[in-house]
Amino acid sequence: MVQTRDTAAHIVVGPIVLVGMMGVGKTSVGVKLAELLDFEHVDSDAEIEKAANRSITDIFAEFGEAHFREGEVRVMERLLAAKNAVISTGGGAFIQDAIREQVKKRAISVWLDASPELIWDHVRLKPGRPLLAKPNPQAIINQLCAERADKYAMADMRVEVREGMDQTTVAKLILNRLKTGELA
Ligand code: S3P
Repeated sequence: MVQTRDTAAHIVVGPIVLVGMMGVGKTSVGVKLAELLDFEHVDSDAEIEKAANRSITDIFAEFGEAHFREGEVRVMERLLAAKNAVISTGGGAFIQDAIREQVKKRAISVWLDASPELIWDHVRLKPGRPLLAKPNPQAIINQLCAERADKYAMADMRVEVREGMDQTTVAKLILNRLKTGELA
């Protein structure tokens, strides 16, 4: 099948930054959205892993969360310099004031919002998320969703991710709203 590419150079002035909880599909939607826009795709977690030459799990275990968060600030600062890029972020990136302020200034931010139940369904069988490697991870998700919602809501656009929506559906939804200038 032939894919049509949508060029959005005329509507997008900075990078598009996907934010939201773990397991909402920021990476897979980001890859698809970048493909539709003919933009580059980058992932902040992958960039942190590359810079540290370690997995996220190992960074948390060896150096602790605070160290990871510092790396996240540095990596986001660098990634935000790109113009034609879609940046998928780790779930806690937009919660950091320093990162959120930079993203708000330099990018278009999109919150992928899903229910805690759907998030749990997506993450429960996948390792590699140190914040959930504790007793009762489902309760941790509920708590993080509640604690973080106000900050995620500061994104320029909110897209609700519901059960059964694949990455192409979500990416096209974002693209249409970018085209019509329909933010929030
Ligand atoms: C985190 C989310 C993870 C990763 C780290 C911390 C968070 O990224 O950055 O484990 O604080 O929500 P994903 O959202 O890609 O899982």
